[in-house]
Amino acid sequence: MRWDGGVSDIGHAIRPDGDKPAMGSANMNTIEEHTMDQRLANKVAVITGAASGIGAATAKTYVEHGARVVLGDIQDDLGAALVASLGGAENATFCHCDVTDEQQVEALVEAAVTQYGGIDIMFNCAGIVGAVGPMSTTPAAEWKLTIDIMLNGVFYGMKHASRHMKAAGSGSIISMSSTAGVMGGLGPHAYTAAKHAVIGMTKGLAAEVGLFGVRVNCIAPAGMATPMVADVLTGDHQKLDETIAALAEGSPLKGRAGLAQDVANAALWLASDESGYTSGLTLTVDAGATTGSTAAPPAFAEYEPMKREAGRTGVE
Ligand SMILES: NC(=O)c1ccc[n+]([C@@H]2O[C@H](COP(=O)([O-])OP(=O)(O)OC[C@H]3O[C@@H](n4cnc5c(N)ncnc54)[C@H](O)[C@@H]3O)[C@@H](O)[C@H]2O)c1
Repeated sequence: MRWDGGVSDIGHAIRPDGDKPAMGSANMNTIEEHTMDQRLANKVAVITGAASGIGAATAKTYVEHGARVVLGDIQDDLGAALVASLGGAENATFCHCDVTDEQQVEALVEAAVTQYGGIDIMFNCAGIVGAVGPMSTTPAAEWKLTIDIMLNGVFYGMKHASRHMKAAGSGSIISMSSTAGVMGGLGPHAYTAAKHAVIGMTKGLAAEVGLFGVRVNCIAPAGMATPMVADVLTGDHQKLDETIAALAEGSPLKGRAGLAQDVANAALWLASDESGYTSGLTLTVDAGATTGSTAAPPAFAEYEPMKREAGRTGVE
């Protein structure tokens, strides 16, 4: 059943007990309750960069929660294997999609419409580390290709998904930023520029399409154990165990590395109706790194009598 946004004095949605919810509400002032294993029931998602790492983990999570997914990537063999592992065309379709080519991104979005009847969720996830090194010596061609993948690719995804979602009157667009999109010095220059821009585009598009019932958010993870980060930390994109150990060592959360699944879980919430009143958000998945947490204790962690003016201490 549905309930009409009734809110108790402590802010909880009020609903009659004992009723199972119906799916597919068109009324944005109703909240639907899904069973926890079907949080994306009846939804169709498009994911770029879906063949590996965070994109692949999200594809699996979305399908587990009842969505059908259209997956785009340039690693065709990995993409095809992923589709097979997700149960084939009933649940998932792979299309070769280089996000630097607007027509390929448009075709990916159209594949969702023609094969599964529409697009409810767009996850712009494709990315690379890109140009590395001092800005003073960065080759312009490396800068441009990095920006083309990380920024223009997200623009194409936002553009073609929002066109359909505005017409449909609903949808959730999610894009990959990074903690390097929130702070300086955490990534290479072109990566940092593109990830900051993703946050800006997220806010701008959210302001445009909210009136059409479309939500737009992005996710900003710290270093997570994926092939991209494994390559950076170990020189081998397949050394995930070594990567997890290294990330756990430096984590602000004791012994806990960030995993692709942590980001997939964030992307699940942003895709689902549970985040139905959230738009324009940059959701950090960083163990508190961008709010000051580190693997070392903060300043003033140990008790001492309170410090006062002119070297005095204590309350007396
Ligand atoms: N892993 C992290 O620590 C981390 C942190 C913050 C943000 N991110 C972002 O998350 C996203 C996914 O990264 P990941 O860590 O899963 O890396 P990954 O290398 O495992 O996956 C990235 C995928 O993007 C695909 N891709 C690359 N260029 C493409 C192109 N031109 N067109 C289409 N697909 C392309 C790759 O083939 C790959 O499958 C990226 O945008 C990355 O910047 C990752």
